[in-house]
Amino acid sequence: MTGRFALTRRLPGDYFTDALHTDVLKGLTGRPKSLPPKWFYDARGSELFEEITQLPEYYPTRAEHAILRERSAEIAAATGARTLVELGSGSSRKTRLLLDSLRDHGTLESYAALDVSADALREAGGQLCREYPELRVTGCVTDLETDLGLPEEAPGPRLVAFLGGTLGNLDGDARPAFYAALRRQLSPGDALLLGADLVKDPGVLVPAYDDAQGVTAEFDKNVLRVLNRELGAAFDPESFEHVAVWNEDEERVEMRLRSRRAQAVELPALEMTAEFEEGEEILTEIAVKFRRDRLTAELARGGLEVDRWWTDEEGRFALLLAGPAPAAADGGAVSR
Ligand code: SAH
Ligand code: AVI
Repeated sequence: MTGRFALTRRLPGDYFTDALHTDVLKGLTGRPKSLPPKWFYDARGSELFEEITQLPEYYPTRAEHAILRERSAEIAAATGARTLVELGSGSSRKTRLLLDSLRDHGTLESYAALDVSADALREAGGQLCREYPELRVTGCVTDLETDLGLPEEAPGPRLVAFLGGTLGNLDGDARPAFYAALRRQLSPGDALLLGADLVKDPGVLVPAYDDAQGVTAEFDKNVLRVLNRELGAAFDPESFEHVAVWNEDEERVEMRLRSRRAQAVELPALEMTAEFEEGEEILTEIAVKFRRDRLTAELARGGLEVDRWWTDEEGRFALLLAGPAPAAADGGAVSR
């Protein structure tokens, strides 16, 4: 029996159009200019990210894959999950290691993928239905920053995976809100499996975001193509240079698009013109790199208790298993 892949949308039909308009208006009128990274991931952007994961310079995917290969049986035994929920699932490639281990453990019944990219969900969901005919596979197009609803009908215990280091694409204000939203939805016995990239030599970090073949540059410029298509904007992507910078104070890599010349770009859907000076930059992505003590502490403040912490052999990337901390007896920090 091959199950049919069910793709749902939880947010109102005009949510993404409205959110794009708001984000671009705010981002291109602010100082410095910025655009949120979630708009990279149309079909082409999702493909380019997959290409990035194969690049010699981009170690995070390989490092996380190595940890999962080593630890997924242990994760399956520790969680006994009947449902695997994946946030920002993309191609769900590494997920197969978890699905296989949970299936071998004898508990797995359903897999729910949540992503902003309908294209990535469709592509991954179709393949997974063929590969795991007994599994109930669902996809939900959503924005995790505003709608982190875990599927309620899915049987528990649930293992919620947030892999790839995507947590690092959220800044220090967005992460506590994300933990709080997640904590509210976790029941006793549920678990979080979180992948986080670690602070290391900028000589390794920067090339991971500025590869020799220019794939990351194409990925970065793809956001301008999305704006051209969705907002009728007139960006010439080649008039911007991709730049990756290590921000030592914030311990994060920043991807920026730097205008090669002074220019004015029309955005008809927003009835605005974005003016750029020569050398002016748009901040398109932050990729925060973590340290064990700080990440454990910020998760604890969010009501999530780290139970296990693993890294790859070279200590480049961490995978951790956390559970919901018991609600405070005085009804304090953690509300349920
Ligand atoms: N987890 C995969 C993919 C990481 S790429 C891996 O480890 O390889 C980041 C993924 O998160 C993309 O598929 C992107 O579409 C998704 N994403 C980014 N911002 C999002 C948001 N705000 N809401 C939902 N999904 C988001
Ligand atoms: C999805 N996310 C974890 C990637 C990262 O490493 O921050 C996105 C990416 N940007 C450039 N290369 C990869």
